[in-house]
Amino acid sequence: MLGKLDGFNRTHHCGELKVSDINKDVTIMGWVQRRRDHGGVIFIDVRDRSGFIQVVFNPHIGQEAFNKADQLRSEYVIAVEGSIRKRPKGNINQELPTGKIEVEGKQLKILDKANTTPFLIEDDVNPGENLRLKYRYLDLRRPMMLEIMKLRHRVVKITRDFMDDNEFLEVETPLLTKSTPEGARDYLVPSRINAGHFYALPQSPQLFKQLLMVSGMERYFQIAKCFRDEDLRANRQPEFTQIDIEMSFITREDIFELTENLLRDIFATQNIELPKKIPVMTYQQAIDQYGLDKPDLRFGMKLKNISDVVKDSQFKIFSNVVQNDGQVKGITVQDGAKFSRSEIDDLEEYAKLYEAKGLAWVMIKDDKIKSPIAKFFTEETINKIIERMGAKNGDLMLFVADQSDIVATSLGKLRVKLAEKLDLIDENEYEFTWIIDFPLFEYKKEEGRYMAKHHPFTAPLLDDVGELDNDLDKIKANSYDIVLNGEELGGGSIRISNKELQHKIFDVMNFTEEEIENKFGFLMDALQYGTPPHGGIALGLDRIIMILANTDSIRNVIAFPKTQKATSPLTNAPSKVDKKQLDDLHINLVDID
Ligand code: AMO
Ligand code: AMP
Repeated sequence: MLGKLDGFNRTHHCGELKVSDINKDVTIMGWVQRRRDHGGVIFIDVRDRSGFIQVVFNPHIGQEAFNKADQLRSEYVIAVEGSIRKRPKGNINQELPTGKIEVEGKQLKILDKANTTPFLIEDDVNPGENLRLKYRYLDLRRPMMLEIMKLRHRVVKITRDFMDDNEFLEVETPLLTKSTPEGARDYLVPSRINAGHFYALPQSPQLFKQLLMVSGMERYFQIAKCFRDEDLRANRQPEFTQIDIEMSFITREDIFELTENLLRDIFATQNIELPKKIPVMTYQQAIDQYGLDKPDLRFGMKLKNISDVVKDSQFKIFSNVVQNDGQVKGITVQDGAKFSRSEIDDLEEYAKLYEAKGLAWVMIKDDKIKSPIAKFFTEETINKIIERMGAKNGDLMLFVADQSDIVATSLGKLRVKLAEKLDLIDENEYEFTWIIDFPLFEYKKEEGRYMAKHHPFTAPLLDDVGELDNDLDKIKANSYDIVLNGEELGGGSIRISNKELQHKIFDVMNFTEEEIENKFGFLMDALQYGTPPHGGIALGLDRIIMILANTDSIRNVIAFPKTQKATSPLTNAPSKVDKKQLDDLHINLVDID
């Protein structure tokens, strides 16, 4: 029995009724999807979490039920008792799983009435995101959203089962905690009891999972909520969920194997097969060939370096850049010679968003070179460029000259943009890759110092430790990201398990003794009492669901998400609070407007 209300015993879910149930007496409960009046017979489509079933009310079968059915409107909540019968031939609906049967309604109870909803509860209406988020509870009634929530539940269940089978313990870590540096701003929570002091909501459970390794937990995981105050995008939310993992006495390869096996189980939900082994690419290879550290490998158009070919050319923009330690690289767009001038101008504007100063182009159209810059090159140089670029008749070559990071990012982004424009991406392809050997540090111009590229607890590669006293740019990290179709699914590292090395890393990032003590004193203390070698990874659960559900907005896979402006149209959070609440927290607001 599925539930009992006022003499109605719910026997079935609507979408699960089958031809084999014909002649059975059933009781269903759910919402009115649609009501149609057909000359004295009323048809109601009833919806619950499992799907739909058609109910027919005929005055000859039950006058009272028929009279009540006449009052029904969309989204009324009802209970119906009746029997299953075959639909007459002309009424069969092949598109509905229950389309061959219907309920002959005998008893009807209205459990609740409903106002007209602000939008229809159907998949193919598009009410606009603000309305959807304001009435999220109605939006979640739509079958598509319900399916995503079911998928998310299944993936979490598979994860918990997998981790349990592999002897991981799920341990909860605090939400009211101290800031962990993951590169974003913290959400702070003022303390009432400790005036002027703040908790930070965790950007990740990073330090706690390391402490759990010191505790001897050996294998930890958590479906963990994380909070980051950063600029939001289609794949970023201020609060999101990680499948967070940490292991002791392991190497990087053990984490790869575990992660691949977990992802294999997760992706099987959508019949997506992972390769036996996910290929590995170094950070430098990714940047050189694709411009980005999360390359989309579903299409080619690799970046090619022509610096050596153009370094002495008459085109000063190119030759000057190369002579000043910059680079000239390009991509070849197959059949790109069909692009109009204004299309090329648009591509240039796009490259400029990523700091390129221009976008030089050369096309081969009707076996002739067309280009505003060809006049600066000898025929020999042009031929060398074409050869290096692998271009042929009908192709377009696009070049950026600049410092290597700008060249990489602008061409890398342009490559992805072009693949979308030219429809080069096969949506049924899933190209996974590990990216390894990231730089340990990156130089932050604004702060004038080196900071950790992943986080400051990441171990350097053993061979590079000596460089800590020399060239920080040369040190590579024992860290890794897992990338799928140009999306970073997760990242992790082998950690520093030695107090002296951890201290040294803080030193080279210019943390003072006082800062180290204030921010990380508890970690430094813990590292004194016997720390096992350990490492881990965190996978972005929301991003995994996005890919599995084939949706391009992270907001579609979270039950109650925030807008791009980090607000909730449903609850109106964040909101102003009473003066009394602020006083309790010892907070005085300065004039904001
Ligand atoms: P990292 O910062 O790389 O690593 O985060 C891991 C994964 O979390 C997802 N993610 C996000 N998803 C949605 N919205 C966001 N704002 C957001 N930010 C990150 C991404 C990302 O790959 N503590 C380390 C992990 C470790 O070293 O073990 C960490 O948090 O998919
Ligand atoms: P200009 O001489 O500035 O009109 O530039 C001539 C061509 O070179 C234009 O197509 C510009 O887009 C391109 N260009 C200018 N600067 C760069 C650069 N740094 N890298 C690539 N192309 C450039």
